[in-house]
Amino acid sequence: LSLGDDYDLSKPIDSASGLRQGLTSYGDAHFSLFLRKVFIKALGYSEDALSRPIIGIINTYSALNPCHANVPQLIEAVKRGVQLNGGLAVDFPTISVHESFSSPTSMFLRNLMSMDTEEMIKAQPLDACIMIGGCDKTVPAQLMGGISANKPVLPLVTGPMMPGSYKGKRLGACTDCRNNWAAYRAGTIDMEDISMLNEELAPTAGTCGVMGTASTMACITAALGFMPLRGASAPAVSSTRLRIAEETGANAVAAAVSRRTPQEMLSKESFLNAITVLQAIGGSTNAVVHLMAIVNRHPKLHGEITLETFDEIGRKVPLLIDLKPSGDNYMTDFHNAGGMLGLLHTLRPLLHLSAMTITGKTLGEVLDASPFSTFPFSSEIIRPLSNPLYPCSSLVILRGNLALKGAVMKASASKDRRLLQHSGPAVVFKNSADLAKRIDDPNLLVTKDSVLVLQGIGPIGNPGMPEAGLIPIPRKLAAAGVSDMLRLSDGRMSGTAGGTIVLHISPESVIPTSVLGVVRDGDIITCDIGKRLLKLEVDEEEIAQRIAERQILVELEKKTSGETGVWKEREFRRGYRGLYERCVNQAEKGADFDFLTAAGPARTDYME
Ligand code: FES
Ligand code: MG
Repeated sequence: LSLGDDYDLSKPIDSASGLRQGLTSYGDAHFSLFLRKVFIKALGYSEDALSRPIIGIINTYSALNPCHANVPQLIEAVKRGVQLNGGLAVDFPTISVHESFSSPTSMFLRNLMSMDTEEMIKAQPLDACIMIGGCDKTVPAQLMGGISANKPVLPLVTGPMMPGSYKGKRLGACTDCRNNWAAYRAGTIDMEDISMLNEELAPTAGTCGVMGTASTMACITAALGFMPLRGASAPAVSSTRLRIAEETGANAVAAAVSRRTPQEMLSKESFLNAITVLQAIGGSTNAVVHLMAIVNRHPKLHGEITLETFDEIGRKVPLLIDLKPSGDNYMTDFHNAGGMLGLLHTLRPLLHLSAMTITGKTLGEVLDASPFSTFPFSSEIIRPLSNPLYPCSSLVILRGNLALKGAVMKASASKDRRLLQHSGPAVVFKNSADLAKRIDDPNLLVTKDSVLVLQGIGPIGNPGMPEAGLIPIPRKLAAAGVSDMLRLSDGRMSGTAGGTIVLHISPESVIPTSVLGVVRDGDIITCDIGKRLLKLEVDEEEIAQRIAERQILVELEKKTSGETGVWKEREFRRGYRGLYERCVNQAEKGADFDFLTAAGPARTDYME
């Protein structure tokens, strides 16, 4: 393109690509482009550089985000890939969200990050955009934002960390953080051990080294067709990771030229494949919420996938990957065993091979191009279909009067399988503070058969829906050797955690009509995985009565000027938290903001 084209006032500006795209409005398009060039030239770019496909690179490095510590090296490798293939690489920041440094919880910031990602991709003159991220909420936020922005987007994950070691045993964040902490609470390891372990649990840059949410989302992103298959598991500190970054740069230039947008690339089959992978890897329960949020951003696919889809696929798909928390090993083992390439070859009869990938090839073509025999393969880490780790339904969806809109359980991570079919009396905690105060009280009326119920940690009740669903075993029972109990909440649990735990109960307890919200101490609760049932064994009339009483209280609260109730406060709260409380939808829809979904803001009447 010559200078003349840009400054010839008689010709309209072709805004299809590069610097001409999405001009800032100053009324006069030629002047807008002229001004844009003035400023980008201040960065030292030549007309030649600016005439190339412009590939954005989202930089989520932060000195408070160890999972993204390798982002600077990845950017360098990505730039090499872009520039060797004739593009111009430009990196820019978005917010960086790490699990441990995001109060009250990183999930609270996921939707904010998705808005940042979407708007910066849309606002800037980019032909394609590589989204570098890795920590739990980052990849979902980037996929949500990228799909809504709908320019060609290519996620590049930072990759898992290496395992550490203590007293001859391998360790990895964060399943072993939790196991060892539970052992310390129960008194089986001492303070010296727990301090030494603290140094070894996260020994390198990268994301948690087990099949937690970060690894799960990396595998899902590859299954959706967004990135090279080896890209899901190559360690953060490996040279392979850098080569994948370079390859991603090359892919981005090709995707920019062919204008392969995520909305065009993704199909219902892409999501069915992703859910098949989720079940086969024994992936994080969080991925259910994230996938619902992601699919509901797609204008043609929203509503096509429901919680039932996860359950239906689960019934046909065995758990094949022997990784913590469902199994014993670490992401490096999965990588060395063949990673996603090995897994997808194994799952081949269950996959939709016609689904498209970012390279323009179908998934079937990608697999054909890398036959089974060309990579190392361990049938211990990636089990064959004939010898699974768990026969099927690793993640199950429960329903019943206690979860009218659904609840999720990772059955494969149960430590006491008898609890998968269990009835017991409820011990109810109103919220996290109440739990912290009473769970270790020696006088708490609780036995190993009790059902621990935690209310008030749903999307609205405790904005961000914290990972507090892993209710600790009361200390007196832990000391007596109890390692698992049936536990229920409307919150989430870390993907690295295990136990017989029902999560994401919807509608959440803070909603006046929620049955979870009116459970009382001593009520019998039944959970039956075979029947996919979660039931409060209380007369329907009695339940209706309790709900009616609760609704009157909420109405009273709304009319008074008292400032203690959730419903009064959420109408007047300022800032991002106010936006969050007013607009977040329920877990089964993805806990996204209603106005960000493809369907748009359908005012949900929470009071109904
Ligand atoms: Fe970042 Fe686990 S803390 S992936
Ligand atoms: Mg996590």
